[in-house]
Amino acid sequence: MKSISATTDDEYVVIGRDFLLKDDQYLKFDIYSSRTSFSSENPILLARKDSTISNLKKAIANIHFGQLYIKKHDEGRFNLFLEKTLQSVLDCRETPLEKKAVVLYTCAKNAVTDVFNNPRSGKNVARVQNIAEGLIKLIMSNASSASVLAKLCSHDFYTFTHSVNVCVFGINFWQMLGFGSDDQELQEFAIGCLLHDIGKSQISKNILKKPGRLSKEEFKIVREHPQLGYSLMKEYLATSSLNIILYHHERFDGTGYPDGRDMQNIPKEAKIASIADVYDALTTNRPYAGARKPFDALKVMLEQMEGHFDQEHLVAFIRILGGEPI
Ligand SMILES: [Fe+2]
Repeated sequence: MKSISATTDDEYVVIGRDFLLKDDQYLKFDIYSSRTSFSSENPILLARKDSTISNLKKAIANIHFGQLYIKKHDEGRFNLFLEKTLQSVLDCRETPLEKKAVVLYTCAKNAVTDVFNNPRSGKNVARVQNIAEGLIKLIMSNASSASVLAKLCSHDFYTFTHSVNVCVFGINFWQMLGFGSDDQELQEFAIGCLLHDIGKSQISKNILKKPGRLSKEEFKIVREHPQLGYSLMKEYLATSSLNIILYHHERFDGTGYPDGRDMQNIPKEAKIASIADVYDALTTNRPYAGARKPFDALKVMLEQMEGHFDQEHLVAFIRILGGEPI
């Protein structure tokens, strides 16, 4: 969300209109608007907290205002409001797939960002579980959902958007590989994907965002993120979600970390997540490398990362991305 500053203690944040879906719902914050999208004036109050969505819609229709805003301090409340409506938005037959995907991707980014900022909050972990449920519901409900969501996937690398992207690719991959949709198993897989890099929340941003090569010592610190993530999440998550956090950097030939496990000893869920993880990392812009095109990324995975992945799974992944049956 973009923010505009009115005075130092009175800052506004632009919001989309995707939350205007349930007419009988009450707002938990004031909504403001500007006369036009480019107005330099302070936004004016359009609907107070505790108004209904229906009343807000009438106000918007009557006045033909431009952009909608909330106060910056209400941003957290707005994100939670959007998340609470998420499952009913996804269930609503009249809402187009593209709109559902935007709401879901926005909620996913917000929830994952918050859990990275405060990984010890059980409430934030529960929000991620709600998101995982939403992503599975949307991807399973419509054959086009995964590609609609994939189009929203950010090509600039931020740990939180990367986490959502890995989850989108991962669920699609899981489904195409024929692992079925056992609710519990798939839910745990999706949560593991969303939180696979949560251990990075404990590592200095100076190291994570460093342009150029890391020193030996810095590299050693980054390689601690699987165990750090496991320690953070072990009291909240199921074993298969934790397996993704702990083993997504293990490689088939035993050259990965943290344990140097070989192919027989890497859990299935971690093998699948690692392919989605590397593919998304290669196709997004990172501080030290530009984004590769999908074809080039897959070529790198096949030729330069030989021995890192389950070859059969990798070939299946390439076929899925190419739209071929496997
Ligand atoms: Fe990682």
